[in-house]
Amino acid sequence: MSQFDYIKDIAKYGLENDQEQLMSVLNALVEHSKKTKKVNFAIQLQSILKESMRQQSANNLTKVGSDSYHQRIDDRDIQDLILEKITSDYSLENIVADDDVMGELKHFIEEHDKIELLQQFKLPVSNKLLLHGPSGCGKTLASYVIAGELKKMMVVVNLGAIVSSKLGETSKNLSKIFKKAALEDCIIFIDEFDSLGKVRDYSQDHGEMKRVVNTILQLFDYLPQSSIVIAATNQKEMLDTALTRRFDSIIGFSLPNAKQIKNLVELTLNKSGFSFSNKSEAAKIMKQCVGLSYYSIQKTLLTSLKRSLFKQNKKDVKSITKIDVKIWKALVIAEKKSLKVSA
Ligand SMILES: Nc1ncnc2c1ncn2[C@@H]1O[C@H](COP(=O)(O)OP(=O)(O)OP(=O)(O)O)[C@@H](O)[C@H]1O
Ligand SMILES: [Mg+2]
Repeated sequence: MSQFDYIKDIAKYGLENDQEQLMSVLNALVEHSKKTKKVNFAIQLQSILKESMRQQSANNLTKVGSDSYHQRIDDRDIQDLILEKITSDYSLENIVADDDVMGELKHFIEEHDKIELLQQFKLPVSNKLLLHGPSGCGKTLASYVIAGELKKMMVVVNLGAIVSSKLGETSKNLSKIFKKAALEDCIIFIDEFDSLGKVRDYSQDHGEMKRVVNTILQLFDYLPQSSIVIAATNQKEMLDTALTRRFDSIIGFSLPNAKQIKNLVELTLNKSGFSFSNKSEAAKIMKQCVGLSYYSIQKTLLTSLKRSLFKQNKKDVKSITKIDVKIWKALVIAEKKSLKVSA
């Protein structure tokens, strides 16, 4: 069956109000999409189906004033706290890191790929991961890689915004997010995890903050094995040890060394069809990049690529694929200066 046949059936059963047939076609479309490599679409559709089944079972019991009624109303509140809900195409090939970091990421992914095996032997599954390190070194990217490799949706929680806005509701809302994510089999990604520590520093209301930290500790302690929480921070030292020791795995990211810079450049230019106007000069610039983050290096490289493209004669198709190393060098020097990285 082609995608159009599925759409026709969906329209037919939807208009006929035939729930049973509609669900069966939608499930068939999920399978079809997985087979035809439209994995993201398949995950999104599956999530819509799960959510609808959950709602239906709640609807069957819902009376105004009942718990499930309030549950549904409250769901709207947490939409503000969720920065985004994403699916990801990223895989381990999209990230550059040292062997230790790569090894840890692979182990974490493997535990969830082979979760049934671990459960057969009643072994605990690592499901709480803390990513730390300087800005622009791949913490958020690593979370996308994990979501992509495990083909799971990811809910991005903006802890910074939650904590600063409505401290009193943070505990309640965090619990809701965890519950919802478990039901929908999503990964929870908590960015700016250090916000917890920061607020405690200058908030007058210590009791309130303590409650938030305690809630997190409890949510972590009672996290179902198949749920995954990834937290990221570039200020690990701001975190209480009571919090950090809850994580099953802690991965530290760092600025790239010469070899990783070379890999990043190759990864960035891979399949772009672009190469350098002068290879030995490019190698020297890569060495100059030491001290900058992956993000900064990639940004200067892509900017130089675009500027080289604009500068060149459009009729001369071959020369269009050359990156002018002088442009890149100037951008790298400027970036280091603006970030006060020593030359
Ligand atoms: N290790 C890496 N390998 C490949 N690309 C990287 C890496 N780190 C960063 N990048 C590039 O830089 C972008 C930004 O990185 P990312 O958002 O992961 O940084 P971060 O560590 O989360 O920073 P922040 O602390 O500011 O949130 C990525 O989308 C990617 O394009
Ligand atoms: Mg980030």
